[in-house]
Amino acid sequence: MSNVVPKHIAIIMDGNGRWAKLQGFSTRIRGHEIGVTALRNSATYASEIGVKFLTVYAFSEENWGRPKSEIDALMSILVRSLNKELDTLQKNGIRLNSIGNIDSLPKKCRKELKETIQATSSNKSMTLTLALSYGGRQEIIHAAKKIAKKVLDGNLQIEDISDDVFSQELSTYNLPDPDLMIRTSGEQRISNFLIWQSSYTELVFLPVLWPDFSSIHMEAAITEYHERQRRWGKTTEQLKDSKS
Ligand code: FPP
Repeated sequence: MSNVVPKHIAIIMDGNGRWAKLQGFSTRIRGHEIGVTALRNSATYASEIGVKFLTVYAFSEENWGRPKSEIDALMSILVRSLNKELDTLQKNGIRLNSIGNIDSLPKKCRKELKETIQATSSNKSMTLTLALSYGGRQEIIHAAKKIAKKVLDGNLQIEDISDDVFSQELSTYNLPDPDLMIRTSGEQRISNFLIWQSSYTELVFLPVLWPDFSSIHMEAAITEYHERQRRWGKTTEQLKDSKS
């Protein structure tokens, strides 16, 4: 058991709608707005304790099926937040990155995202990846098509297709696999998030709704992670031998 801070934490930020309802707001939007505050605090805290990569599920492929009013609100919160949070990102040395089908986002979002990614590109403390219009199955299909094309073009042999070769075609090619994945709101599912990358990720499900998530909850999830033994398919004895 090691107490090293997880290098890469992934978060499924769930429960904004339920939070808004519980607080008595007439729309779910207030939950998303306070969700941005929880994200700002979490990203700042994660970079302070030495997490190198934080990847958050901000908008899934499936979220396009929500009412148009909620999608529009989420997109304008995104534009506003990217603009407003640039200072926080710069002050904390956080580099912004994105994964997902970015081309399907409204033009204004794409522009703001591109500019913030560019403005923070030399920051070194932590990489914050926003998964936007993201779906794990869609990502895998996209990678499979790119691999198939390479094979058809004669640039790749079928027998050379490996874990590493496949991973390089995913949108996370420049990120290590997550060590820890946290889902808030009490739901216990991965919901198409980083499904290839999370094969050996420790999963921690917390009953807190995302807008209430704070450094205390991240600390609790990291403590639970430290209590787990990651065996990578090996036996406990093998792990002990490799340490001695
Ligand atoms: C899940 O809660 C949350 C989302 C679908 C969006 C998460 C977005 C943020 C935290 C804001 C930052 C990101 C953007 C894109 C502005 P839910 O709405 O599914 O909550 P429920 O399960 O209680 O209904």
